[in-house]
Amino acid sequence: MFYQPSEKRYQSMPYRRCGNSGLKLPAISLGLWHNFGYVDQFENSRNIIKTAFDNGITHIDLANNYGPPPGSAEENFGKILELDLKGYRDELVISSKAGYTMWDGPYGDWGTKKYLVSSLDQSLKRMKLDYVDIFYHHRPDPETPLEETMAALDLIVRQGKALYAGISNYQPKEAEQAIKILKQMGTPVIIHQPKYSMFERWVEDGLLDLLEKEGIGCIPFSPLAQGMLTDKYLHGIPEDSRAVKSGVSLNKSNITPEVIEKINKLNEMAHQRGQKLAHMALSWILKDNRITSVLVGASKPEQLTDSLNCLSNTHFTTEELNIIDGILK
Ligand SMILES: NC(=O)c1ccc[n+]([C@@H]2O[C@H](COP(=O)([O-])OP(=O)(O)OC[C@H]3O[C@@H](n4cnc5c(N)ncnc54)[C@H](OP(=O)(O)O)[C@@H]3O)[C@@H](O)[C@H]2O)c1
Repeated sequence: MFYQPSEKRYQSMPYRRCGNSGLKLPAISLGLWHNFGYVDQFENSRNIIKTAFDNGITHIDLANNYGPPPGSAEENFGKILELDLKGYRDELVISSKAGYTMWDGPYGDWGTKKYLVSSLDQSLKRMKLDYVDIFYHHRPDPETPLEETMAALDLIVRQGKALYAGISNYQPKEAEQAIKILKQMGTPVIIHQPKYSMFERWVEDGLLDLLEKEGIGCIPFSPLAQGMLTDKYLHGIPEDSRAVKSGVSLNKSNITPEVIEKINKLNEMAHQRGQKLAHMALSWILKDNRITSVLVGASKPEQLTDSLNCLSNTHFTTEELNIIDGILK
């Protein structure tokens, strides 16, 4: 059936400026790490994307290796763009990345200019795009000089294959250097993508301060701790959950009694705020105005519409924050 996006798609989503750049991103963005590969049901993936766009989620995040198999999320997304969103490319901010293992031999991993440039060319072919909006170096490379990796990002932006450069998983010191090098080259980093959730708070230890000082946006990934910061694991481990289906990035052994105890207490706290735990976990990140957008995943369209409810209450009292800190200790 021919897809007609909702006319109301821009009515309720807030858009936040990405650092000091001109680019605004939706407060909630959608990532295609899981649930968009060849192993997944294409019509479900397609419905998640349409639901996102209908609700003002204009930013879709990918990487060369998303699938499985690697590359298949980009190929599926290319098909969905062609089928449903052909006329809406300019309403979308599409990102991709390179930095993890992608192909055999010495040129398909880490952070060389050789890898980044050829990987992005492959990503563009898979998605049938002329350019991505944001291209990230996915993780720091301990062997390649940072100058070379940043020169690759600079080249890619100058060639028009990406509009903006980003970094992901860089610790504050590495990020500071990368930012400095790219600034000197005249292609500033506009965004950092770190892991950040109630269960993983390393960014509070210097990274967010650095990004604020440098005028760079922040888009945390896995804000629901891959589903653990929801009520889904409170009464056992559902068969259709990531802990069962993936078994790699998240598995049953991660759902320990200690984790369940914390989730239970957080769940109670969320109810006191009139929220579900998933909503509170997302609004807890969005309370900080250094955050540009939270990057969620979803295995069903209904999860995405559910997560959007976080936007109705992103304010926390000091007392609430203290109670949450106490639970997370
Ligand atoms: N830069 C990097 O190194 C990096 C690394 C990881 C991820 N990322 C990016 O971040 C994106 C998001 O990561 P993520 O998928 O781990 O994020 P997440 O939002 O923490 O987890 C998503 C999972 O949580 C569950 N879920 C989502 N909404 C829910 C709701 N309302 N109620 C109950 N359960 C809900 C679903 O799990 P079930 O499948 O169990 O239903 C869903 O698959 C990725 O797609 C990717 O774009 C980047």
